[in-house]
Amino acid sequence: MPELVWRDEYSVGVKELDVQHQIIIQFINELNDTERLRNAPDEVDRILDRLTEYVITHFALEEEYMERFDYEGLEDHLEKHIHYIETIADLTQDQVDQKDKVYEELMGFLNQWWTNHILKADKKYSKTFNDNGLR
Ligand SMILES: [Fe+2]
Repeated sequence: MPELVWRDEYSVGVKELDVQHQIIIQFINELNDTERLRNAPDEVDRILDRLTEYVITHFALEEEYMERFDYEGLEDHLEKHIHYIETIADLTQDQVDQKDKVYEELMGFLNQWWTNHILKADKKYSKTFNDNGLR
């Protein structure tokens, strides 16, 4: 997979959440490094675990703000987060069991889901968050 590069258009207008999205992109790029998979497959499993832990905390923060600000898209957004967590749990388990066989599917999902989610779903909460004083 080519390296994911942060672009200004990914900004959701809230510094704290942008920084978290940048860290998630860094995680994905660590995983995009296929040399690592070849040389240290166990390291890939550890990075995946750390990424999932990080993402769970990140989703919880977004959801907390959505609830606090009575965001109208909360339910739709929650569904997307749940779907992600379920999909990544399945793919990670397959990856641990079969190593490189599902690696491409897993990485395809991660790369595509995050850029799409930030641009299509997360950016929709910008106005509500900004109107409530988050910057
Ligand atoms: Fe989100």
